[in-house]
Amino acid sequence: MAEQNFDLVIIGAGPGGYVAAIRAGQLGLKTACIELEPRLGGTCLRVGCIPSKALLESSELYSEARHGFEAHGFSVKGVELNLPALMQRKDDIVTQLTDGVAFLFKKNKVERFFGHGRFDGPGRVIVKANDGTESTLTYKNCIIATGSKYAALRGVELDGERIVGSTEALSFPEVPARLIVIGAGYIGLEMASVWSRLGSQVTVLEYLDRILPGMDSEIANEAQRMLKKQGLEFRLGTKVTGAKVVGKGKKAEVQVEIEGAEPLSADRVLVAVGRWPNTDGLNLESVGVKLDERGRIDIDEHFHTSTANIYAIGDVVKGPMLAHKAEHEGVACVEQIATGYGHHTHNIPGVVYTYPEVASVGRTEDELKEAGVEYKKGSFIFKANGRAKALNATDGRVKLLADAKTDRLLGAHIIGARAGDLIAECVMAMEFGACSEDIARTSHSHPSLSEIVKEAAWATFAQALHS
Ligand code: NAI
Repeated sequence: MAEQNFDLVIIGAGPGGYVAAIRAGQLGLKTACIELEPRLGGTCLRVGCIPSKALLESSELYSEARHGFEAHGFSVKGVELNLPALMQRKDDIVTQLTDGVAFLFKKNKVERFFGHGRFDGPGRVIVKANDGTESTLTYKNCIIATGSKYAALRGVELDGERIVGSTEALSFPEVPARLIVIGAGYIGLEMASVWSRLGSQVTVLEYLDRILPGMDSEIANEAQRMLKKQGLEFRLGTKVTGAKVVGKGKKAEVQVEIEGAEPLSADRVLVAVGRWPNTDGLNLESVGVKLDERGRIDIDEHFHTSTANIYAIGDVVKGPMLAHKAEHEGVACVEQIATGYGHHTHNIPGVVYTYPEVASVGRTEDELKEAGVEYKKGSFIFKANGRAKALNATDGRVKLLADAKTDRLLGAHIIGARAGDLIAECVMAMEFGACSEDIARTSHSHPSLSEIVKEAAWATFAQALHS
């Protein structure tokens, strides 16, 4: 079959690849995007961020209806879970969004290729469709945006049913009576929250002596305390050495082996110990694209791989494995290809959508201490905010860190209701090189949760007004 020629070929249609494709279309590049899954949107839209948020919202409302309304002066009796309906709602949201990406591809004249993409020497990519037919695309530039997959845990083999990764944990057919979650990171805590609210007894096993590594430790400890109060059991400093299914049919259960302790049993086990870059079958050798020491595609500051005209973005390269980081890189990379300049940023927020949410941007207090940076710190608690009281959401705090001499904001760490939305202001402040005083002197509507950020800023550069 004849070759088809493009200005830009993008491999992968996750938040990195599909947004890059849309922007490329907008900028007039003749663009192809190759995706092996029928639905566009990648892990994030199909089996990650979006379905997990749908489950988090539904399970939070369910829990609120059962336990949270009395504080407002009324009670609801006979609240019943309809798990298939809850799952259907999640699936409908995914369908709407993945269809939305297909629509945006059409609108921006992005040509979609359905199949597995691999390099075939310089300037050529072969797409192999599910029925085995192959087509050849040529490109002036190519972006690799193939994302990531679950990291494996030695001794633990996933069977997709009892011992699972995050994809299957989004669709358990019933609420497991006992769920073990291995890994107290983003995925572990979000899915532990969902199933615990729906009725599972959840035990979280974490190798380190803390949860949420990488987040500010003071805020992470607070998160652990709050999640424990909701019924999650944590076993920290716990090394899992194996897991196996014992028994058959309805009597089947999983036994999890732990170094130096008795094994634990559960109905289902979720393994959430990180993710690994996806470079399988790309035939990178044929174009000379190199990997770094951690199996990621090696790039410079401008997304160039070791081969001219081939770029890489998102989970498959260095940096946090987050959808919005991939999206930002996709846009920057395409604009750089099309116009010679792309906007880069290191101010990438991270949000864990538990209740309350945990959000963070910039440097943690632990990092500043270790680097010997002199800093000021200001905190303000949700309990002292009028809107938080009205919402009955008084747990949590905003903590800001600023340079001791210049007052420039160095980091923001929030635990509390809607922390994932509140952090946006802090990200913007950091992007513009703002000081804590800049935030404090910006008018914030009253009453709103955003006033907690303002008060924390006052506490950082002077003194909080309401404490
Ligand atoms: P993670 O890196 O956030 O957490 C993995 C946890 O597993 C760590 O606490 C680690 O210490 C622990 N661990 C590793 N080996 C272990 C072992 N043998 N036994 C017990 N614990 C062990 O990875 P996670 O949660 O799998 O998430 C993967 C990626 O997906 C993350 O990079 C995250 O950024 C992204 N993600 C983002 C979300 C969001 O933005 N809200 C939601 C879900 C995932």
